[in-house]
Amino acid sequence: MNVLVVGSGGREHALAWKLRQSPRTDKLLIAPGNPGTATLGQNVAVAADDVGGLVAVAQEARVDLVVIGPEAALEAGLADALATVGIRCFGPTKAAARIESSKVWSKQLMQRVGIPTARFRSFGDGAAAHAFLRSEPWEQWRVIKLDGLAAGKGVVVAQSAEELHAAIDSFGSTGMPLILEEPLSGEELSLLALCDGVKAVPLLPAQDHKRLLDGDQGPNTGGMGAYAPLPQVDETLVGSLQGRIFEPVLRALAAEGTPLVGVLYAGLMLTPTGVQVLEFNARFGDPETQALLPLLDGDLLEIMLACVEGRLQADMVRWYAGAALGVVLAAAGYPEAPRKGDRIDLPAAVGDGLIFQGGTALAGEGLVTAGGRVLTVVGQAPTLAEAAERAYALAQQVAFAGKQMRSDIGQRGLTVEHH
Ligand SMILES: Nc1ncnc2c1ncn2[C@@H]1O[C@H](COP(=O)(O)OP(=O)(O)O)[C@@H](O)[C@H]1O
Ligand SMILES: [Mg+2]
Repeated sequence: MNVLVVGSGGREHALAWKLRQSPRTDKLLIAPGNPGTATLGQNVAVAADDVGGLVAVAQEARVDLVVIGPEAALEAGLADALATVGIRCFGPTKAAARIESSKVWSKQLMQRVGIPTARFRSFGDGAAAHAFLRSEPWEQWRVIKLDGLAAGKGVVVAQSAEELHAAIDSFGSTGMPLILEEPLSGEELSLLALCDGVKAVPLLPAQDHKRLLDGDQGPNTGGMGAYAPLPQVDETLVGSLQGRIFEPVLRALAAEGTPLVGVLYAGLMLTPTGVQVLEFNARFGDPETQALLPLLDGDLLEIMLACVEGRLQADMVRWYAGAALGVVLAAAGYPEAPRKGDRIDLPAAVGDGLIFQGGTALAGEGLVTAGGRVLTVVGQAPTLAEAAERAYALAQQVAFAGKQMRSDIGQRGLTVEHH
């Protein structure tokens, strides 16, 4: 089978790595890919949101399955365009991907089907949001969200009325609808489920680290590291979410005539009164995927085919024992203005660790930085503590000027594992 992976980050390198292991994978194409994916298959210089270009590549190379990484490709309607030419795609249609691309639509769906989520109001513009707050205590509505895709820059949890009103002005100026939401508190986790339109099979729970600096300080990023599973989260709780959260959403989407095939990713918060859904995404997470796929004991291509053919079974998704932990190495200046062109020195041998490339490029013989999140270094081991040790030992052996990384990835899980 010929497979095309769409995207160019660490997530796509991990997807290509796992798909390459399938005995059924013949030709593996990655568009546009990165120097890491080029070692596993053939990179094709077409952007992830160039729908016409990607369809042409898929047709020319007789691709049997397209696997979509980034949300931009979903919103551009890549899955829809592939369907019209009869090419199978792991990744939802534009309509099903609204669960991620419109937070207003997503919140309304959650409310309709009874998914636990923070109380909210939606507004067509900033003026309406300001007007609403005139008769409401701002503290109870201090989470503001932009309706559309914003690459992690569309949410502010305001600490003062001034900050809230300033965020309303700034988000309002985009012309997009807004949401004001009640603030919740508790530990966050990512639970991704593979979906065949009807059935959802959750992966292991994972945890991302969104802030740039240790102790969850500093600016928001695309994610500075992730690990799985989470020793602090009860397995039976995770199991119960299949019926409480994922399947009701799949039923609602199918009832609208837009079934979701691909990944449904729930951003969850464990609040004192129970699990709440902060948001849904319609794709694999980056960097969660780099920690999850090494733990998957199974043939990812077979699993994805089962999803697109509507025959997914829970027993297809098995896991190796132990834990995996990924540390993101980011470029100087990330997230504001990542510097490009710094030479990267990789260790000659990675031992039993893994290095997934993201913002990298080839310059002559060598590798240089070419984006914000340069690499994800993953350690896998029987315990989370050993996985962290391995990941950090390997991360120390990667050198480039201005390298940024957090030193506390996995901290919440490690605290529990030690007790
Ligand atoms: N209701 C809420 N209460 C407290 N924090 C929230 C709430 N909603 C979102 N957040 C915080 O903001 C982050 C981003 O929100 P999210 O809805 O996941 O949007 P996105 O990932 O699209 O930026 C969350 O990871 C969480 O830390
Ligand atoms: Mg999120």
